[in-house]
Amino acid sequence: MNHPSVGADSATVVRLFDRTAHTYDLLNDLLSLGLHRLWKRQAVASLQPQPGEQILDLCCGTGDLSLLLAEQVRPHGHVTGLDGAPTALEQARQRATKEPWLPLQFIEGDVLRPPLPPGAADGVMMAYGLRNLASVTAGLNVIRHLLKPGGRAVVLDFHRPHHPLGLQVQRSYLQGVVVPVAGMVDLEAEYTYLWQSVATFATGAEQEELARQLGFAVACHQPIAGGLMGLLKLKLPRRQP
Ligand SMILES: C[S@@+](CC[C@H](N)C(=O)[O-])C[C@H]1O[C@@H](n2cnc3c(N)ncnc32)[C@H](O)[C@@H]1O
Repeated sequence: MNHPSVGADSATVVRLFDRTAHTYDLLNDLLSLGLHRLWKRQAVASLQPQPGEQILDLCCGTGDLSLLLAEQVRPHGHVTGLDGAPTALEQARQRATKEPWLPLQFIEGDVLRPPLPPGAADGVMMAYGLRNLASVTAGLNVIRHLLKPGGRAVVLDFHRPHHPLGLQVQRSYLQGVVVPVAGMVDLEAEYTYLWQSVATFATGAEQEELARQLGFAVACHQPIAGGLMGLLKLKLPRRQP
């Protein structure tokens, strides 16, 4: 079985996530000690979804964040989760059946060629997706394309700490804990990709710079979780320059 390297095409990366979907939530809880739930709540608080708004959750995976967002925009708003992995989406839809009152749908598709109308979203969320796309610039460009003028977005992802000690801790944790634990459920090779993708991901400053070049009026990267994670906060100008 081939395992993707960083920068692989969308279909290869999505196939990897589809293979990990059945244990994704469990491993996420285990390996982050449940903290990913806190970071996702921080991301939602940063986006500030309002009742009545149209929100997109790109690279939604198994949909936990989509449900959190849908709670905020109901009753008249709507959340669309988009992902390329059918097994992850199956779980997202299953999860949503437990809260059938939430205004929510899940769509399968390539985030880099989104089957969604341009300029229609009040807000876009992308958690742990940008790093996995073939190009960070292309991912930010899609976010810009989907937002209304004045629309806002939050991108939650790993961040490489500035301090060498923090970097060493992150590397040791990902290589020495995450990969062996994933190996226990036969996903060692898949999780080796995680470290590679973190090691080559654009820094916060680079993400800010790329977003400004694409026309975002606000592009601010905030390290969280002691610098191990980051929130990139984006806002489009009300009028295109
Ligand atoms: C690390 S998971 C994150 C899932 C979820 N957002 C979370 O925070 O738990 C990354 C997700 O991005 C999806 N993905 C990666 N590249 C994609 C692409 N080009 N189009 C659609 N989905 C993609 C994968 O299928 C996977 O579900």
